[in-house]
Amino acid sequence: MKILFFGDVFGKPGREALRHAIPQWKKEFEPNVIIANGENVSHGAGISDATIKHLLASGVHIITGGNHSFEGKNASILLNDASLPLLRPANMPSALPGRGYAFFGIKGNELRITNKPDDADLLVINLIGQVHMRYQYDSPFRVVDEILSRFSPSATHPPFPVIVDWHAEATSEKIAMGWHLDGRVAAVLGTHSHTPTADERILPKGTAYISDIGMVGPHYSIIGQEISANLERFLTQIPKKVDVAQAPPYEINAVLLETDPRSHKVVQLRRLRNIISDNLSHDN
Ligand SMILES: [Fe+2]
Ligand SMILES: [Fe+2]
Repeated sequence: MKILFFGDVFGKPGREALRHAIPQWKKEFEPNVIIANGENVSHGAGISDATIKHLLASGVHIITGGNHSFEGKNASILLNDASLPLLRPANMPSALPGRGYAFFGIKGNELRITNKPDDADLLVINLIGQVHMRYQYDSPFRVVDEILSRFSPSATHPPFPVIVDWHAEATSEKIAMGWHLDGRVAAVLGTHSHTPTADERILPKGTAYISDIGMVGPHYSIIGQEISANLERFLTQIPKKVDVAQAPPYEINAVLLETDPRSHKVVQLRRLRNIISDNLSHDN
């Protein structure tokens, strides 16, 4: 199975750049599954009906989340919509709307959510870190153990690829999760920092790992936000609302994974990055 995973899609520039990138990369790489982190898809923070629809219409099959998942007017309604392939981190308070992991079945080009692990072709788990985060989430290490123990009690790899969107800030916490899950999941893919890291690798027991995939968003920005206003916050230390940087060029960061049909481990891992200079807002 080939899986194309885009990091945090940031605001309109991210959405447009993603819409531009997917047809090209689909043709080039022929992925079976396309996943994108959507926590910043609506104005740089949160989700909305229109922006979730935009991602799905662009060809994204599964949308993961992070600390901004609950921002946006209808975020809770969207997260509670069982028909949407939308996740939020599993180690947030369990009473919150939405789900932290989901099974998917794949038939041809179609991918559907399934509640039956026996029918699953893929499991996607979304986790959030505890280091340098505003809230004290449950331990992602213990929560992921608990999830995996339900489907692979012997601590072996489950009978389908397991992809973890690991939404965290500190690279130390990130690589710790890589080692924690090595051999038990297909991939631990970092999101949240919006900055791609060059440390992609397949760990000794077969788990693909990268500290951060990087965002899909405006290249001339401070992690997606407009430069001068964001910089002013650092200079003055006065809180200020900062907009999405709109101007091109835009950067597109993703990873491409290929899993073995028998072992369900990753046999190929490739980091993808493209910077496009066109203004894409009039693209079809
Ligand atoms: Fe983000
Ligand atoms: Fe985040």
